[in-house]
Amino acid sequence: MTDSGATVLPGLAEIAEVGRDTVRGGYSRHLLDGAERDLRDWFVERAERLGLDVEHDRNGNTWAWWGAPGPDAFVTGSHLDSVPGGGAFDGPLGVVSALDAVARLQQEGHRPSRPTAIAVFAEEEGSRFGVACLGSRLLSGAISPERALALTDVDGTSLEAVLTSAGIDPSAVGPDPDRLAGIGTFVELHVEQGRGLVDLGSPVALASSILGHGRWRFRFSGQGNHAGATLMTDRRDPVVAAAAAIAAVPGIARAAADVRATVGRLRAVPGGTNVIASTAEFWLDARAGEDTVTRTVVGAIVAAAEDAATANGCALEVTEESWSSRVDFPEGPRAAIDRVLEGDVPVLPTGAGHDAGVLSTHVPSAMLFVRNPTGVSHAPEEWSDADDCAAGVEALTTVMRAST
Ligand code: HGY
Ligand code: MN
Ligand code: MN
Repeated sequence: MTDSGATVLPGLAEIAEVGRDTVRGGYSRHLLDGAERDLRDWFVERAERLGLDVEHDRNGNTWAWWGAPGPDAFVTGSHLDSVPGGGAFDGPLGVVSALDAVARLQQEGHRPSRPTAIAVFAEEEGSRFGVACLGSRLLSGAISPERALALTDVDGTSLEAVLTSAGIDPSAVGPDPDRLAGIGTFVELHVEQGRGLVDLGSPVALASSILGHGRWRFRFSGQGNHAGATLMTDRRDPVVAAAAAIAAVPGIARAAADVRATVGRLRAVPGGTNVIASTAEFWLDARAGEDTVTRTVVGAIVAAAEDAATANGCALEVTEESWSSRVDFPEGPRAAIDRVLEGDVPVLPTGAGHDAGVLSTHVPSAMLFVRNPTGVSHAPEEWSDADDCAAGVEALTTVMRAST
């Protein structure tokens, strides 16, 4: 492995200390928290240094225009927020590569023949408010303003309150059809989250599809009590029920075709060592090649959770918090990019969701992946070699030179 991308792409190096998570490792940069606000400021400064005109839309997304906004715009970009303890590349690589591509084209004297913008979408990870790609969903009307504004973070703070405190008018939140209609093409560059490119021996690839994926909250309610004074036979322990349900997840997932089912987030309330919990929650992330398979698998997991709840005298509440249908990217934009990159660019599916997936149902969209030598993502070890990051910038620059 050569140096990480953080050295070859100055933009990544510039933000390398923003939002470092000293407890989890990696980065924790969540919608409008301190780190994400610093990243927003950093992006505005970098874009304005290139002479781009920056605007913030009604939904917390940021747009940096090269020339006047207008119809049939070429838009690239990605997101700057992270998962808790995430890596340096997931999101920022696409934003930094877009800034670098514009800088290169400007140095060449390129002048866009169509409106061109870099977009930074808000809350792509859904790490604060639980819904993936919240900013692009609001833009496209894929989530209602009412539902979005009522979403709360782990502290119970609503999106409405967070937007208000950031000076974003919550009453304006909602679909932005004119902005959406103005996008002629959207191309998102993203670090690959998987090892497809390693096995193919290519630094970049194009995306064919995104697995359908959803998130469900399982809440078990029992009886809080004293850990020492309560006989084992007298308990209604929601943690025991939740644990039994979680233990069933891998077997159910493995029995189905190409399913990925994950429980990475747990919460016991009140959370005392010497206290039997009153409630226990876990969140399920489930994905599969076919949406019907995801739904079937989730149904089986819910059934197993219901059995576990009954066996432990607990109540169960399951809530679907986020759902993204499978996306098959259109052939047109991908083929156009392949031609511009002179062919032989591999085409890969991805199990990771992206704003390009949300936009693709409204706007001709494509994705460029940059090789990740280990495939690891959503972890501090996420990596992309310097020469592969450079290849990604080169590819995006080539696409923008031909498309704008
Ligand atoms: O969860 C995902 O697939 C994406 O990284 N937001
Ligand atoms: Mn991600
Ligand atoms: Mn991402």
